[in-house]
Amino acid sequence: MITALRGMKDLLPPTSILYEKVIKTCTKIAAKYGYESIHTPHLEATSLFRRSVGESSDIVGKEMYQFEDKGGNDVCLRPEGTAGVVRAFIEAKLDRAGGVHRWCYAGSMFRYERPQKGRLREFHQFGVECFGEGSVYEDANIITMAYEILKSLEIKTTLKLNSLGTASDMAEYKKRLISFLDANDAHICEDCKRRKQTNPIRVLDCKNESCQIIYANAPLITDSLGDEARTDFALLQDILRQNGVEYELDARLVRGLDYYCKTAFEFVSDEIGAQSAVTGGGRYDRLVEYLGGRASYGVGFAMGIERLMAIMALKQETSTMPNGVYVGSLDDEFIPLAFSLANRLRKSVKAVSCYEPRKLAKHLQAANNGGFKYALIIGEDEARSEQAWVKNLINGDERRIKFDTLVQEFCDE
Ligand code: HAM
Repeated sequence: MITALRGMKDLLPPTSILYEKVIKTCTKIAAKYGYESIHTPHLEATSLFRRSVGESSDIVGKEMYQFEDKGGNDVCLRPEGTAGVVRAFIEAKLDRAGGVHRWCYAGSMFRYERPQKGRLREFHQFGVECFGEGSVYEDANIITMAYEILKSLEIKTTLKLNSLGTASDMAEYKKRLISFLDANDAHICEDCKRRKQTNPIRVLDCKNESCQIIYANAPLITDSLGDEARTDFALLQDILRQNGVEYELDARLVRGLDYYCKTAFEFVSDEIGAQSAVTGGGRYDRLVEYLGGRASYGVGFAMGIERLMAIMALKQETSTMPNGVYVGSLDDEFIPLAFSLANRLRKSVKAVSCYEPRKLAKHLQAANNGGFKYALIIGEDEARSEQAWVKNLINGDERRIKFDTLVQEFCDE
């Protein structure tokens, strides 16, 4: 038997129904904040991610689904959404047009990670990206949006907040961190020695416990913030407080992707094992320019849909309530009629017809098994009187409904 690849999952009902519900909630709330849907390809040039997510990140270093296509191009399944959206923004010359552009997207991302609970190789994200707005109010705006989405999905999280400073703050911080790492060189792992050369702040993400003990005394990035980042960070916290968004400061939150500056945040939950991020984002004011566009502000976040669904599935019955109408006929000759009645019913309700004649009891059993609320059955009497026999499968009520009034009868369902 051929099975799905490791770390890749089919979404079958009721999980697929939950997936649609989550995406619908996200898109609806994002639309209220002025964010419109965009779609970008799943496959991009590998160089796009090397340049944006960064050579020193685990995503680029270890996790990319990278291959040469038939034309000899070095391509890669997108490991995240931001880089492709930035490329699309530049390619559409919107960096030159100016103005503020607010976009959202949903779809598959691919990372060759070790699969475990809440960690897949193909997973889905809902993300938002805003271009052209440098005000920290937009950072607060998207954080509030994520907060509202999580709240409406009834997912309890903690918001962790940090500022990574401007480019020059970051350069200053890296110098201080390198001195600290040099002084502790004998005690840090080989990976961290490599990270020190490529991008020292990556060491703060090291999973090695002995390294983490050392980094407890490492300099903090928030101590290297200049006036601009410090003022923005203070204002961001004021806005969040004034708007009822609770947060915790986390000076060690550096995010796993290289393109961030200033605001960085994650919403974490401990409901699916060890504290894991269900949403991550931040500001990336240098990325558009870095990918060849005209310098434009950027800020955004992405949520991991599987992680949200895993938390929701813990709490609620994911299967939907019985709904819709099952349409069956007792005899071969009434199948065309049943088919057209189902067509008519669809003006107001979900309707599915059975294409083979069955006895009443068999139809009722099939309707129950299929999760329908009603069974509508056509036999000789029904065809002659032009009235369908309808049973409510929840309360057992039976009645006859004229063919002409079917659409009105079910319009509240
Ligand atoms: P990220 O933190 O790499 O950020 O991913 C965002 C979310 O995707 C994570 O918080 C997590 O919920 C989910 N996620 C990541 N990897 C996996 C996995 N292997 N399996 C299941 N879920 C996963 C980004 O991707 C940035 N592009 C976010 C962003 C948008 N920043 C600015 N704009």
